[in-house]
This record gives sequence, C-alpha cells and structure tokens, in this order.
Amino acid sequence: MVKICCIGAGYVGGPTMAMIAYKCPDIQVVVVDISASRINAWNSDRLPIFEPGLDDVVRSCRGVNLHFSSDVESHVADSDIVFVSVNTPTKTRGLGAGKAADLTYWESAARMIADVSTSDKIVVEKSTVPVTTAEAIEKILTHNNPGKHDFQILSNPEFLAEGTAVADLASPDRVLIGGRGDTEGGRKAIAALKAVYARWVLEDRILTMNLWSAELSKLAANALLAQRISSVNAMSALCEAMGANVSEVAYAVGKDSRIGPKFLSASVGFGGSCFQKDILNLVYICECNGLPEVANYWKQVVQINDYQKARFVQRVVSSMFNTVSGKRIAISGFAFKKDTGDTRETAAIDVCHGLLGDKAQLSIYDPQVTEEQMRRDLAMAKFDWDHPQHLVPSSPTAASGQVAVAWDAYAAAKGAHAVCVLTEWDEFKKLDYQRIYEGMEKPAFFFDGRNVVDVDALRKIGFIVYSVGKPLDPWIKDLPAAPLS
Ligand code: UDX
Ligand code: UDX
Ligand code: ADP
Repeated sequence: MVKICCIGAGYVGGPTMAMIAYKCPDIQVVVVDISASRINAWNSDRLPIFEPGLDDVVRSCRGVNLHFSSDVESHVADSDIVFVSVNTPTKTRGLGAGKAADLTYWESAARMIADVSTSDKIVVEKSTVPVTTAEAIEKILTHNNPGKHDFQILSNPEFLAEGTAVADLASPDRVLIGGRGDTEGGRKAIAALKAVYARWVLEDRILTMNLWSAELSKLAANALLAQRISSVNAMSALCEAMGANVSEVAYAVGKDSRIGPKFLSASVGFGGSCFQKDILNLVYICECNGLPEVANYWKQVVQINDYQKARFVQRVVSSMFNTVSGKRIAISGFAFKKDTGDTRETAAIDVCHGLLGDKAQLSIYDPQVTEEQMRRDLAMAKFDWDHPQHLVPSSPTAASGQVAVAWDAYAAAKGAHAVCVLTEWDEFKKLDYQRIYEGMEKPAFFFDGRNVVDVDALRKIGFIVYSVGKPLDPWIKDLPAAPLS
C-alpha cells in the first residue's frame, strides 16, 4: 500500500490531500503541520478553511484513509511519497526583499525529511517556488541523509482556485508532473505519482515534463491570468474616460475564440495569496538572470493592480466632496473573492487603508471573514500575512473607533454616506437596495468595485452610483478628480 504524507495543512495541502484520499481508498494519506491548532481544526467539525463541498469530502474519508496530525516527523518517516506544501512568503528583508520568495519553511521541511528518513522517498514540490528550487532541495536531501537513501524530487504544482477547490481538484484542466525523466529513478518516480492521479484524471490531462518547465509553468500561468485582469482593469479606466462600458467591451473581446470569455471581469483589483507573490517572484528571477526588460514587463501587471485600487479610493473620496473625514462608509465584502473566507492580499485591505487614511469611519461586513481576521489584516504590514511569526498586534488605528464590523450588509449601511462593494458575494445581488437607501445619509453614494449591482436600478432608487469601467454618473463626471497620490 502506498503511504502519502503532506507537510503543510493549508489551503493547498488540506484540500488536495482530501481529494487524493477520497479518490484512492487504498492509499493512506496523512497531512501534518507544525501548527497544532490548524491540525485540531482539520480534525473538528469546523474546518480551518471555508471551501464549498470540502466538508463532505473530508467527512467521508477522515479517520479511514485520511488523517491530520501534528506528529510531523514520524509520519514523514513512515511514508513513500512526501508532498511539501508549506508557505513560501515574499521576503520582507535582506536580499530581494519585497520580491524574492522566502524559502525558510521549505528548507527546514527538506532538512527534516533528510533527518528522519529511513527509506527511499519521492519528495513532491507542491507549493509554488522559484524555478530551480527542486535542484536546491535535492542537494539538501542528498547531503544530509546519513542512511544515503534515494530521494527523487518531483514538481507537481497545484492549480486549484479558492472557492472552487473541490471541483478543480475533482476535474482538473491538467495535472503537471515535472521530474528527471532522463534517469531511471526519475522515470519511476514520475510514473508512481502519475499512477495516483490516473485514478480519476484522464491520462491525456496528466502532463509530464522536466523539473524546470513544471516549476516555471506555474509562475507563468498565474502571471498570464493576472495579466488578463490587469489588462481589462486598465481598459476599465479608459472606458470610464470614454463613456464605454467595460462589460460590453470584455464580452465582445471574449467572443474571439483565441481570447476566450473567462477571466475578463474588471474589478477593484485582484487579490489572493498567489498572483502578486508569484509575479514578484518571476520579476526577481528575471532580474537575477539579466533580463530587466522582461522583469519590467511583468512588474507592470502588479503596478496596474495597485493603480486600480488607488483609483477606486480616489473615486470614493473625490465623489464625496473630496472629504470622507468622519463619514461612515459601509464596506460590503472583505475576502479577496466570493465563496472563500481568505483575505490574503485582498483589495479590501488597500482600499480600507486608503479610506482610513482619509479619516473615514468604516463599517465592514463579510459573510465569511471574522472580525478578528479583519482587524489583524488592517493592522498588518505588507507581506507579513505569510509570516505567521511576524504577526503584529492590532495597531491603534485598526483597533480604535475608526473600524466597526457589522453582522449583515443592512447593518453595515445603516447611517452610512456610502457603500463600497469589494467582494462579489452572490447575496449582494439580491439585497433590498430600497431599504438600504432609506437607512443612509443623503446623497447616498454607491461604489461597486465588482460589477454586482444593476446600476440603472440603483440610480432609479436615488443612489449616486460608480461602477468600475461603466459610464460615469453625471454627478461624478462633472467633478474634478483628485490626483492619485
Ligand atoms: C490580426 C488579428 O488576428 C485580426 O483579428 C485583426 O483583424 C487584424 O490583426 P493579422 O495581423 O492578419 O490579424 O494576423 P495574426 O494571425 O493575428 O498575426 C499577427 C502577428 O502575430 C503575425 O506576425 C504572427 O506571426 C504573430 N503571432 C501570432 C505570433 O508571433 N504568435 C502567435 O501565437 C500568434
Ligand atoms: C489563482 C489561480 O486561479 C489558481 O490557478 C492558482 O492555483 C492560485 O491562484 P485564486 O487566487 O484562488 O487562484 O483565485 P482566482 O479565481 O484566480 O482569483 C484571483 C483574484 O483575481 C481574485 O481577487 C478575483 O476576484 C480576481 N479576478 C478574477 C478578477 O478581478 N477578475 C476576473 O475576471 C477573475
Ligand atoms: P498554502 O496556501 O500554500 O497552502 P498556507 O499558508 O495555507 O499555504 O499553509 C502552509 C502550512 O504549512 C501552514 O499551516 C504552516 O503551519 C505549515 N508549515 C510551514 N512550515 C512547516 C514545517 N516545517 N512543517 C510542517 N508544517 C509547516
């Protein structure tokens, strides 16, 4: 029987291993983590991450062939295949700070594998890492294992998106396996991992390639996806200036089969743990390889994303007579996208910081994000979210009276001068906006950063509406926009 162990019970490791256990009843899967509280949550009725459909998958195999444990070393020692799915934050200090990936967690996991191994192992790189990490890990493993066991390194990047993780894992567009196909041991390792996925993934969707191609494919895929969003967001600024509608433009463009309709929704900006981090990582790799032109090309994707968030704040402030000081502003949605409680790199953090900087009073509502999480996020320095040990205590700004957390969208908007939609939760489409309007100060402003509301219907109620990339409300159009800082 094959025994699999996964180091790191996070957003990637947890759901991925649950799906392997679910699809392969004869494989024993153990997910380990140094965080005992995370493991306890995986073993409880309330999983540490909110992901539609995941509860059922976990419940059906937990305790049978799926286990969660904080006894990291013994389970690693006992396994044939070790997935490594630990966090790879952006470095906050030293060489490459603000861009390069910090491989501290990865390296300590690799050293631990080398220390405890008493048999041959296939080590699978699951978290996104800089290209050539596999080679570095291989060196750590082979130079640190006293028993001289054979370690085969594979790169098997994960492409699941949060909110749709279960569906993505059950029916992936493709599975990538990178390995040393030029050696006998490498070919065997590739075949062993392929055999696991082949239980439920069609063979022609399992792509095998060399290690470097697999590692780079993950960074390239995220960079291209983020680039589509920055492209359409850049268009949204032009649409507003020209009186065009970005949804119509995106629809027309997406009808071209060479372009396709997906991932063309203009928004207040992309978030999530991957896009910005992976692009910055790509930029750093380009710079290190003497390719400044390529680095600058990709850097622009992140810069347009920052511009889009700043532009949104500017619209809010300049529409409201250039001052939001002391005004209550409702924030509808804090997660980086709908159907997840994840707030890593969410646009809401930057937008809230911008409004707080202008002395607004915020009342925030999100159906899945806890008050504690919101306050922690608003108090955290850039990039610190991926360094659990660097968590700073709540800053006086976020903890003080400037931020309130509401239990629903109606409560958040009560007495507010404006509503800002920052996450596209389905429930925001079905709210009674007449009721919301009646409870607000007048003029009542509505800033839709996610294109969730019917602009005309809201204008009919009496709102002054701004929706990213849509023709501007006459009220907003006639105002001089404050320059972006
Ligand atoms: C383009 C658009 O495709 C078409 O819709 C529009 O109406 C006019 O402009 P065209 O310039 O005729 O059409 O050719 P196209 O096939 O788009 O190729 C343009 C250039 O891109 C060529 O030099 C082609 O070799 C190059 N190309 C295309 C690549 O380098 N790589 C590719 O993957 C595709
Ligand atoms: C992404 C990749 O999609 C996934 O393949 C990879 O494994 C991890 O990174 P994720 O970050 O979970 O997944 O979510 P995704 O659906 O890609 O959305 C990322 C961000 O882009 C969100 O903030 C989302 O709201 C935004 N977005 C997405 C847009 O603004 N417009 C779009 O059209 C699509
Ligand atoms: P991702 O989104 O890539 O899954 P997460 O941050 O959600 O990333 O999860 C990474 C997990 O890896 C965290 O729960 C962290 O505690 C765990 N981790 C980091 N280093 C180690 C290690 N050396 N051994 C075990 N678990 C680790």
